[in-house]
Amino acid sequence: MCGIVGHVRPLAPVISSAATPEVEGRTLCVLLDGLGRLEYRGYDSAGVALVGPSGLQVAKAAGKLENLRAAIAAEPPAPATAGIGHTRWATHGGPTTENAHPHRAGSIAVVHNGIIENFRALRAEVEEAGRALLSDTDTEIAAHILDMDFTARLAEATAADPSADPAQVLVESMRAVTERLEGAFALLAVTSLAPEAIVAARRSSPLVIGLGDGENFLGSDVAAFVAFTSRAAEVGDDQILLLRPDSVTVWDKDGCIVEPKGWEVSWDASAAVKGGYETFMDKEIHDQPAAVADTLLGRVDERGEIQLDEMRIDPAVLRSVDKIIVVACGTAAYAGHVAKYAIEHWCRVPVEIELAHEFRYRDAVVSEKTLTVAISQSGETMDTIQAVRHAREQGSKVLAIVNAYGSTIAREADAVLYTHAGPEVAVASTKAFLAQITACYLLGLYLAQLRGNKWPEEVADYLAKLGEMPDKVQWILDEQQSVVRALGAELADRSSFLFLGRHVGFPVALEGALKLKELAYVHAEGFAAGELKHGPIALVEEGLPVFVIVPTPRRPILHDKVLSNVQEIRARGARTIVVAEEGDDAVDAFAEHIIRIPAAPTLMAPLLTVVPLQIFAAALAGAKGLDIDQPRNLAKSVTVE
Ligand code: G6P
Repeated sequence: MCGIVGHVRPLAPVISSAATPEVEGRTLCVLLDGLGRLEYRGYDSAGVALVGPSGLQVAKAAGKLENLRAAIAAEPPAPATAGIGHTRWATHGGPTTENAHPHRAGSIAVVHNGIIENFRALRAEVEEAGRALLSDTDTEIAAHILDMDFTARLAEATAADPSADPAQVLVESMRAVTERLEGAFALLAVTSLAPEAIVAARRSSPLVIGLGDGENFLGSDVAAFVAFTSRAAEVGDDQILLLRPDSVTVWDKDGCIVEPKGWEVSWDASAAVKGGYETFMDKEIHDQPAAVADTLLGRVDERGEIQLDEMRIDPAVLRSVDKIIVVACGTAAYAGHVAKYAIEHWCRVPVEIELAHEFRYRDAVVSEKTLTVAISQSGETMDTIQAVRHAREQGSKVLAIVNAYGSTIAREADAVLYTHAGPEVAVASTKAFLAQITACYLLGLYLAQLRGNKWPEEVADYLAKLGEMPDKVQWILDEQQSVVRALGAELADRSSFLFLGRHVGFPVALEGALKLKELAYVHAEGFAAGELKHGPIALVEEGLPVFVIVPTPRRPILHDKVLSNVQEIRARGARTIVVAEEGDDAVDAFAEHIIRIPAAPTLMAPLLTVVPLQIFAAALAGAKGLDIDQPRNLAKSVTVE
């Protein structure tokens, strides 16, 4: 979840525009402008690499982009003809200047978005070649592998033909190297030996081309270059690109030249920071397939076993754990609540969910055999920090599931499992919730593998099902969004909503109600569907909108009970809005509105059923004209108790 930008222009400067009057520094201007618009994708550090008549120059700085700007102002680089830039959201290695991109190796500099899963094996190769590594990143290893291949290939090519084109040789190297890389990447490289070229490759990480007049661009999304051109073109998976000032060449994985599909960007630079979406929340809802996929990346080794690099707790301790306590607040606590069902089922260990602020001040039973799992998007929620400290004082090991690299909770915990959701800007949490559930499931399967509760094939099967979830989330975004949005607008005048769910649908109901309270300031409550008849059913009156999360019909014991609950409330006049699997016709008779999700196993369903509830809350708040990204009275990170 980093931001990358590239720009190439001719050696003889012919371009000028109002945006960048000083022609000589145009590449640097383009890079800094692009990085500013991509900063929402990461802001741990930033850097640029420039090539031109003065060779290769790299500038980078930890922290926000303004630090890079200051470093450049203090030591202005010479004019360049091609450049690449990067704004980082740390995954491998802390947010330091050394770990900032671009990474340099020989004549080459590289920026990268994604995670290279087989970097350990490649690292050994780089070290064996006697190359010194300056950072902890997977990217620096890719830079060296690329440079090693390029140096050898160029020597061979120039021996055969002294006029061999280094840019074309770098294309060959990029192809050879990316064939060896596992994982996800958008990789951009420049070399001082071909100062009017950028070579790039992409697999499962975003990358788009910007087509200019006598200059060309690359970006993680069009926001990177929309201030300079509105003509964009797609890059497909496993394609290799060569950008020159007046040409863009794209090869597919078989080495055949393909014509990239172009389009005209319809929004302008002012919307760029939200990637073209109206609100950050909308954008982050759409980021969810990537948030789940990225959180799964790099966690399974070549034998198919889960490897959690950040798991610094002795396996013997994890084997002896007799209880897990999840501490968290808000949405993160509901993610833990979902995970309880899965971890207990897979590992046969009791899991308690504790609101962090309650845990801290009661006499909870905690011992050396308790594993405390702290879940936090920001890693800075004071209630959760205090709960972590309290648990450690009691002798419990603490595992943090955190999104923000190097945050307080990540630093104070015994081990960290990072969610790779990228920065979440909207106050109401969305993609962090899906990423937290995904990370909790990885933890559950890891423990089941370690403790021998599940056979390797069973773990592999669950991982495969998790791997299918990004596409299923995308299906909801593609197919159900307009229906849900229309419903949100239609019900904007209502002042009360109920949400019902059973089993894992229960915490999803709680999260659906929380989203509506946070965003639309209406009364909304989530209940366990079975609890309804024990009191809350008295709330049901004519026309009350009630969301019901219906379990898969392949678990009849759950499904049929929830259907009975729907009938009970319908009989009392409720307006039932049912979230049910595709093909589950049994709901048709009892539902006023049906929102469909793709079929999925019971434990995976929360990653799907919550998505329409997020969209609904945002649509309803939008129809009321409320501030969706910054609801009243709330803060993204609550750093006081
Ligand atoms: C605040 C936010 C919630 C969030 C909660 C926990 O209350 O408004 O959206 O779920 O904090 O935040 P954390 O960063 O610890 O996940």
